[in-house]
Amino acid sequence: MEISGRTKLCCVIGDPVEHTLSPVMHNVAFEELNLNFVYLAFRVKKEELRDAILGARSLNIHGLNVTMPHKTAVMEHLDEIDSMAKSIGAVNTILNAGGKLVGYVTDGVGAVRALKENGVNLEGKKVLLLGAGGAAKAIAFHVAQEVEELKILNRTTWKAKELAEVLGKKFNKKVSGNLCSSELVKKELEEADILINATSVGMHPDVNRSLVDPNWLRPDLCVMDIIYNPLETKLAKNAKSVGAKVVSGIEMLVHQGAASFGIWTNQPAPVKAMRKAVSNKLSTLGALS
Ligand SMILES: NC(=O)c1ccc[n+]([C@@H]2O[C@H](COP(=O)([O-])OP(=O)(O)OC[C@H]3O[C@@H](n4cnc5c(N)ncnc54)[C@H](OP(=O)(O)O)[C@@H]3O)[C@@H](O)[C@H]2O)c1
Repeated sequence: MEISGRTKLCCVIGDPVEHTLSPVMHNVAFEELNLNFVYLAFRVKKEELRDAILGARSLNIHGLNVTMPHKTAVMEHLDEIDSMAKSIGAVNTILNAGGKLVGYVTDGVGAVRALKENGVNLEGKKVLLLGAGGAAKAIAFHVAQEVEELKILNRTTWKAKELAEVLGKKFNKKVSGNLCSSELVKKELEEADILINATSVGMHPDVNRSLVDPNWLRPDLCVMDIIYNPLETKLAKNAKSVGAKVVSGIEMLVHQGAASFGIWTNQPAPVKAMRKAVSNKLSTLGALS
């Protein structure tokens, strides 16, 4: 693609951003559809967020992804925020709509699409979600709407309880929150159809850790670990070895990216090409140390 005076710029802002996979994923997608767009990564320190958004306005940057630590702080600098992002309290995608900056969050929709595209139906299912951090919260908002029951376990109990209370009321569904202890993970897993790990346990460099003992896993369980570094976590490996269905973190990464792509371009994203690009990049990097 030739960069010209008409090229639209999209970017990710965060700190750090050196290891982000978003540029490779989105540039491949733009090329695949022959769109005159380019994607870059900008390291923006906490105290520079306001200036960065002002800069994005004056440079007419078309779209932004927002990552740690700005996902919540960026909200006060935008003109409009989508209702789901408002409820979740985080924005990871911004569209510059003719000078108006509009914030969205695509993590939750990305997780649900990852499950569905991999043949996992949520309707009538019991889901056990580990974690109540940023990603878990976004996932919980989308999953709670579709399933029969959602149980959230988190190391910090009050976060799981608070999230469960909000979701239970909002969607009139059975949602509960509790401590993420070994005893409760084992117990709740017995009744679950789908397990989602949305904690950072098992992420590089602690690749030998998992909150789930392999003996608690069953072949009729579906396991999604949203961690994508390593490509296959210990939990995913253990789940595969008992014959459970496994959905990897790469799937969520690609589908949340695809949702951002759709917001910026109004076109369906070339998911296959995006998946190939991030998988290749991760394999060549080994682990993102
Ligand atoms: N695939 C994707 O597209 C995608 C998207 C976003 C994030 N992620 C991955 O998801 C993971 C979480 O990201 P996040 O943004 O949600 O981070 P976060 O907001 O910092 O949340 C981290 C979560 O992990 C829990 N946790 C951390 N250390 C723990 C431990 N030793 N034992 C038990 N629980 C522990 C935290 O519990 P407390 O509340 O008690 O601290 C919290 O629930 C990261 O690995 C990230 O790379 C993947």
